[in-house]
Amino acid sequence: MTTNQNNAWWKEGIVYQIYPRSFQDTSGNGVGDLKGILQRLDYIKSLGVDIIWLNPVYESPNDDNGYDISDYQNIMAEFGSMEDFDSLLKGMHDRGLKLVMDLVVNHSSDEHKWFQESRKDRNNPYRDYYHWWPAEKGTPPKRWSYFDVEENAWKYEATTNAYYLHYFSVKQPDLKWENPALRQEIYTMMAYWFEKGVDGFRMDVIPFISKDTNYPELPPEFNGDFISYYAQGPKLHEYLQEMHSEVLSKYNVMTVGEAPGITIEKALDLVGENRKELNMFFHFDLMSLDRKPGTVFEKNPEGWPLSSFKEIHSRWDKAFEKDGWGSVYLSNHDFPRSVSRWGNDHPDFWYASATMLHTFLLTMRGTPYFYFGDEIGMTNIRFDRIDQYRDINTINRYEIAKNKGEDLHVFMENEKDTSRDNARTPMQWDVSHAAGFSKTTPWIEVNQNFTKGINVADQEKNPSSVLHFFRKATALRKNHLGLIYGHYTLIDPKNESVYAYTRSYETKVYLILLNFSTLEAQVALGDLSELPKSLLLRNTHQEIKAENLLAPYEARVYLVQ
Ligand code: GLC
Repeated sequence: MTTNQNNAWWKEGIVYQIYPRSFQDTSGNGVGDLKGILQRLDYIKSLGVDIIWLNPVYESPNDDNGYDISDYQNIMAEFGSMEDFDSLLKGMHDRGLKLVMDLVVNHSSDEHKWFQESRKDRNNPYRDYYHWWPAEKGTPPKRWSYFDVEENAWKYEATTNAYYLHYFSVKQPDLKWENPALRQEIYTMMAYWFEKGVDGFRMDVIPFISKDTNYPELPPEFNGDFISYYAQGPKLHEYLQEMHSEVLSKYNVMTVGEAPGITIEKALDLVGENRKELNMFFHFDLMSLDRKPGTVFEKNPEGWPLSSFKEIHSRWDKAFEKDGWGSVYLSNHDFPRSVSRWGNDHPDFWYASATMLHTFLLTMRGTPYFYFGDEIGMTNIRFDRIDQYRDINTINRYEIAKNKGEDLHVFMENEKDTSRDNARTPMQWDVSHAAGFSKTTPWIEVNQNFTKGINVADQEKNPSSVLHFFRKATALRKNHLGLIYGHYTLIDPKNESVYAYTRSYETKVYLILLNFSTLEAQVALGDLSELPKSLLLRNTHQEIKAENLLAPYEARVYLVQ
């Protein structure tokens, strides 16, 4: 097989992402903390995962829950102390788990000392750590912002009669990578964490770091698409290669970039093995599949066709067939819950679809990323009222909709399916107060379905739970290198109910059948139907009526003999 097979721990590992705010509160402030994670390490290890990605735990005023960092080398007080961090890292390493931290360096908090200095006067030594547009030049060319109530990424400051740039909220000013002094600060900070023993970084919106500092009008060929424009800064690759030679190359660490705006044609520029930039990145093609074309946050009322879901994964698999390596994910802290979005959280289909989706991620080529709670099939909370939301994204877009006189009912319905807070509700550990997350009132409401079997304690006791299935599926991947490195071939591509593919490796062929529908469904297996097979994994005990016929949301993994 021609598949790229240079073995690496970060290719063979399974990633488990933790949103620390929502995982386990031990201090009694309603917010998850590092000690809480430490307490749960044996549980995490028992899942069969290898790498933990922690969302930001650095000091932050929490305008965007830690993605606005005011000190890169300190721990957020709500989460604990540096001592807690050191014990946590040790606890992970003692158990053979690796730790990947979030690296948020496109922007800092406006409360970071660099920005506090920068905004003081035009001659301040930190002035050039950020992007400033002097107001005597007039209004700067439009830049779109994700989290601004006016969607404007330039904010005027009277003190120095200038505008600063913020692609995200007004409290997240963009750092100026064009300044070599800033770049050195970042590399030194990264080395600080690597010296502590951290095993890698997930790099927040990393393609946005390079900017044309003439700040021209958006070129017409972008048709108003600021995200693509932001991802094509002139020096992106130069900076990443510099980061690689200055820091990354000195440690055995993994890197995964969050890469909105990076198209498949550009994929290998970031992760080609000779490029010496990143190991992997998250593309956004799947994340926009169920969104209204041209929008980032609006759900497409027409839903999404399975054939496109398959086409996206097949295309990206091919992109990394001979070089580079992919990452496969269905959920994270920025999107709704996987089972509610790609499966079906109606009680009739919840178990089958959650386990079917686990089978999918664990049988694809590329490193699989799971988001905490997926292993027990946590679902969207679907808040009814705006005051239940905590996320700056929903809250500010609600203001925008209100200011524009839009139908707020339509807005609220859309958020039920798309809001990031769907994925940020507390981990459901047991049936005690607040699902065992906290002894007090949590910072965000707990999904009440914790009393209905969606909690760890109940699922531990039930051998046919989503949790037990998850462990079986991770073990399967571990025991079959072919599920990691094997060549991927799509079967029956136009089938709108069943996703079927093979993975071939040396002399072995694996056949994976996944029914993505609420009805019994058939699949055309072609030549493979003649061959004898042994069943390695299945998510139901119902009798198999025929090899090519699957129950609703059924998943099967066969070894073809
Ligand atoms: C990334 C993060 C998201 C954050 C944004 C700004 O998209 O995943 O949570 O709000 O960057 O830092």
